[in-house]
Amino acid sequence: IHSSAKEGSKAVAQEIAALIRERQAANQKCVLGLATGSTPKFLYAELVRLHKEEGLSFKNVITFNLDEYYPIEPDALQSYNRFMKEHLFNHVDIPEGNYNVPDGTIQKDQIKKYCEQYDRKIEEAGGIDIQILGIGNNGHIGFNEPGSNINSHTRLITLDNSTRLANAYEFPNMSQVPRLAITMGIGSIMKAKRVLLMAWGSHKSKIVRRSVEGQSTDQVPASLLQQHANCKFVIDEQAAADLT
Ligand code: F6R
Repeated sequence: IHSSAKEGSKAVAQEIAALIRERQAANQKCVLGLATGSTPKFLYAELVRLHKEEGLSFKNVITFNLDEYYPIEPDALQSYNRFMKEHLFNHVDIPEGNYNVPDGTIQKDQIKKYCEQYDRKIEEAGGIDIQILGIGNNGHIGFNEPGSNINSHTRLITLDNSTRLANAYEFPNMSQVPRLAITMGIGSIMKAKRVLLMAWGSHKSKIVRRSVEGQSTDQVPASLLQQHANCKFVIDEQAAADLT
């Protein structure tokens, strides 16, 4: 529990930077799983600062993003491909072929194959070393809505109405919020060697409590992380307010 979102984000950035540097010293790659949304914005700002001011290089970093709306063009204002370029990739020295964000333009009949390839690519990269997560008000991680299986893989899913409402601010109006998304599965997330879920603000306190102190159930996808051997919730005091 940190005093603010900024302090929590700095702690996560320090952990990521330490692993990147450790791997660099051993001439090895570092594989990160990344999230979008409002939660990781401070984290990416801090990573960019570490690159610009403290010489942290991303040359040995490979990244896989959790999700993307479907369908969506990669340069659309709300696209997570665009978000990642604007908040991180365009500002650090990560080689272009090293970052992966699900493609929202894949033809529908190719999606299944595309998703299988996405999971395979993660495995071929050696698996995710650190997976960054946010949490939805309904407990979703990635876009794994309640009911998602603990063994689920990357796939096309239908967004919950509550998720579409929560994200409507990004779009001109509700009817333009996509109904579908491609998301890494819970099984894909559970395979990460370390998971860091971040949550900031009082609007996250109830779902943080249910995820940490409630039963581990697929009705609250983040609560399934109780079954992960190396997972930490990094939260601010407001998000921690309902913990007993
Ligand atoms: C985004 C993602 C989602 C968000 C969640 C919280 O890539 O995977 O699970 O982390 O919807 O969103 P914010 O951070 O906007 O509150």
